[in-house]
Amino acid sequence: MSLIALLPGDGIGPEVVAEARRVLDALALDLTFEEAPVGGAAYLAQGQPLPPDTLALAKRADAILFGAVGDPQFDALERRLRPEAAILGLRRELGLYANLRPATLTPGLEDASPLKPDIARAIDMIIVRESNGDIYFGEKGHRTGLGGVREGFDLMKYDETEVARIAHVAFGIARRRKRKLCSIDKANVLETSQLWRDVVNEVSGDYDDVELTHMYVDNAAMQMVRNPGQFDVILTGNMFGDILSDEASMCVGSIGMLPSATLSSWRDTLGLYEPIHGSAPDIAGQGKANPCAAILSAAMMLRHSLNMMEAAMRIEGAVAQAIAGGARTPDLGGSLSTNAMGDAILAHL
Ligand code: NAD
Ligand code: IPM
Ligand code: MN
Repeated sequence: MSLIALLPGDGIGPEVVAEARRVLDALALDLTFEEAPVGGAAYLAQGQPLPPDTLALAKRADAILFGAVGDPQFDALERRLRPEAAILGLRRELGLYANLRPATLTPGLEDASPLKPDIARAIDMIIVRESNGDIYFGEKGHRTGLGGVREGFDLMKYDETEVARIAHVAFGIARRRKRKLCSIDKANVLETSQLWRDVVNEVSGDYDDVELTHMYVDNAAMQMVRNPGQFDVILTGNMFGDILSDEASMCVGSIGMLPSATLSSWRDTLGLYEPIHGSAPDIAGQGKANPCAAILSAAMMLRHSLNMMEAAMRIEGAVAQAIAGGARTPDLGGSLSTNAMGDAILAHL
């Protein structure tokens, strides 16, 4: 019996996690679920976004299924109390450093992508985003300097061990795909990126069978819409990976389609699974959210943390068939509710 920590969070988080839960229940797997508050919901209930009991559950669980956190009502709180501190805290406390974000065009969604159909159809990439370091976790602060001028700062930093371990993850994944790895940085300007590039080059010595290229992030953002089919595995840092993955999601039709897995150094098989999107306050509570990203995240969980390959494939197949059959939430140009989209997927399970 595997224990799943269910952390629905805020906004559309609970709405999409509920659909993922229905799909998992329908498969009648050997799973138990324990739910805990996280994000703004936890702040309101317990005064902190990542309460000790929630963190303890995450550590005890075999895998974590996470919704989303955040709401404008919390934006004025000090940073450690904001909902976003919960997901950042989970990633750090559990050593969840390898954030995998696959983007593939689901056949039938060509019309939802803003790209030309032939360009969209070629997309089959995975973004390997480092998620324990970078400008996210360096020293930060704000101060009022001379003459009352306000300043804010965030230190961008990586050390070689952090770069090497995520590079090994990316090369390992590339080996099981088309053996093409593109590392994305800003080494023409940033020292952090120069170290990144040097270390990735060093690690590549262990993977002669993988073709390594480097690209500057500004060019990468352009190439992502010009010819995204050129990418197989993308390796990049925390911030560039955050931005490029939202861009990749739209290329395959919607941010509501992209799942993620974040794997851990803390315990090998532990992983956190979540859609790449946020709490979407603009559509929360209206039944408009696309649950596919959350449902596909559950499939990634079965595959990576629970070794339930067949169940994972059944979920992915059901999502593909529902889409092929025309099931569409509003973000995909349709009118199905979150729950009706869940029904359409369940019907193909
Ligand atoms: P967002 O991803 O929540 O929403 C961006 C846009 O995409 C919105 O128009 C939203 O309606 C739409 N969208 C997102 N998910 C969708 C889905 N499943 N179906 C249909 N449409 C969807 O990003 P944002 O608006 O910049 O941020 C909102 C809040 O979420 C902020 O507080 C932010 O910090 C937080 N956030 C949290 C996470 C996380 O928990 N991992 C990720 C991103 C943003
Ligand atoms: C994501 C989100 C988070 C990030 C925020 C909410 C901290 O945007 O998971 O993509 O930047 O990592
Ligand atoms: Mn993001």
